[in-house]
Amino acid sequence: MSPLHVTRTLPEDATDAALRADVLGGLTASPKWLPPKWFYDARGSELFEQITELPEYYPTRAEREILAARSGEIAAASGARTLVELGSGSSEKTRYLLEALTSLAAYVPVDVSESALTQAGQALVADRPDLDVHALIADFTAPMTLPATPGPRLVAFLGGTLGNLLPAERARFLASVRSLLAPGDGLLLGTDLVKDERVLVRAYDDAAGVTAAFNKNVLAVVDRELGADFDLDAFDHVAVWDAEREWIEMRLRSRTAQTVKVPGLDLAVDFAAGEELRTEVSAKFRREGVTSELAAAGLELTHWWTDEQGRFALSLSVAR
Ligand SMILES: C[S@@+](CC[C@H](N)C(=O)[O-])C[C@H]1O[C@@H](n2cnc3c(N)ncnc32)[C@H](O)[C@@H]1O
Repeated sequence: MSPLHVTRTLPEDATDAALRADVLGGLTASPKWLPPKWFYDARGSELFEQITELPEYYPTRAEREILAARSGEIAAASGARTLVELGSGSSEKTRYLLEALTSLAAYVPVDVSESALTQAGQALVADRPDLDVHALIADFTAPMTLPATPGPRLVAFLGGTLGNLLPAERARFLASVRSLLAPGDGLLLGTDLVKDERVLVRAYDDAAGVTAAFNKNVLAVVDRELGADFDLDAFDHVAVWDAEREWIEMRLRSRTAQTVKVPGLDLAVDFAAGEELRTEVSAKFRREGVTSELAAAGLELTHWWTDEQGRFALSLSVAR
C-alpha cells in the first residue's frame, strides 16, 4: 500500500494568527460576522457529515446523483491523471470520480480540517493502493502550491462550497484556481441552484437541530482556541433567504443583552438582545451566472449537468 502523504502548507501558528485576525475583525465589525471555515474542527466536520444525511438537506444527494450518472463522461472529457479536490471533507462522493478516472495517478484532497482529511485519506489508501494520495492541510482562499504530480489536472470543488464565498472572494478564488491549471486542464464545480425559498430554508434549519449545533460549533471553537466565554445556549440558530442576493444566511441571534469576553484577544464584545452574528452565506446560482463568473476567470464552461429534479448543477469548464 502506498503511504498517505499529509502536508500542512500553513504552520499551526499561521492558523492561530488567521483565527485571531478573523475573530477580532468579525466581532468588532457592524454587523458582526465570522468566516465559515472556522466551523470545521473535528466536531464541526462530523456535524457536517450528519447534515449531509438529513432529509431536508438535498444538495449532497442531488450532487451524488449527478456524479453517479456522469462520472464516466467527466472522466472521458478531462482525461485527468491528477485529481485535486478543494474542501474535500470526507471525499465520500469523490469515489465515483476516482473509479471513473481510469488513468488517474494522484489524488490531492485539500481541506482546513485535518481530522476529515486524515480519516478520508487513510480509508482511500487502503482501498486504492494504486493511487498516490497527497493530502494538503491548507486554506483554499490563500495561495497554494500543489505537489508535482502528472497532468492533465482536474480540480474538483464540490458540495456547493463556492457559495460560501462572497462575490468578490469568489472572483479572487476562481482566478487563483485558474492559476493552478495549464491550458486544457479542467474545473469540476458543484453549485446549488436558486429554488423555492421554503425548500432552501428547511435545508439550513432542519427539524432535528443538527444545523443549529453545527452553526453554534463556531462559538465552541472560539471558546476553546481563544478562551472566550460564549454560552452556546444564549444564542439561537437563524437561517434566512436573501432574495435580492440569492443567498441563504446563517446567523446566531443573541437571546439577551450580554457581554462575551475573549481573553485571547483581550476583547469584550457586547451583544444587544436580538443582535445577530452572521456565520455563513450560501449563495444559490443560475447557469448564466456560473458561466460568466467562470469566463471572467479564464475558464470556459463546456458541460452542465443537473439532477433529475433540477436542484443542483455540476459544471465542467476548461482553462483557456
Ligand atoms: C460544505 S463542506 C463540503 C464537503 C465536501 N466537499 C462535500 O461535498 O460534502 C465544505 C468543506 O470545505 C472545507 N473548507 C471550508 N473552508 C475552507 C477553506 N477556506 N480552505 C480549505 N477548506 C475549507 C471544510 O472543512 C469542509 O470539509
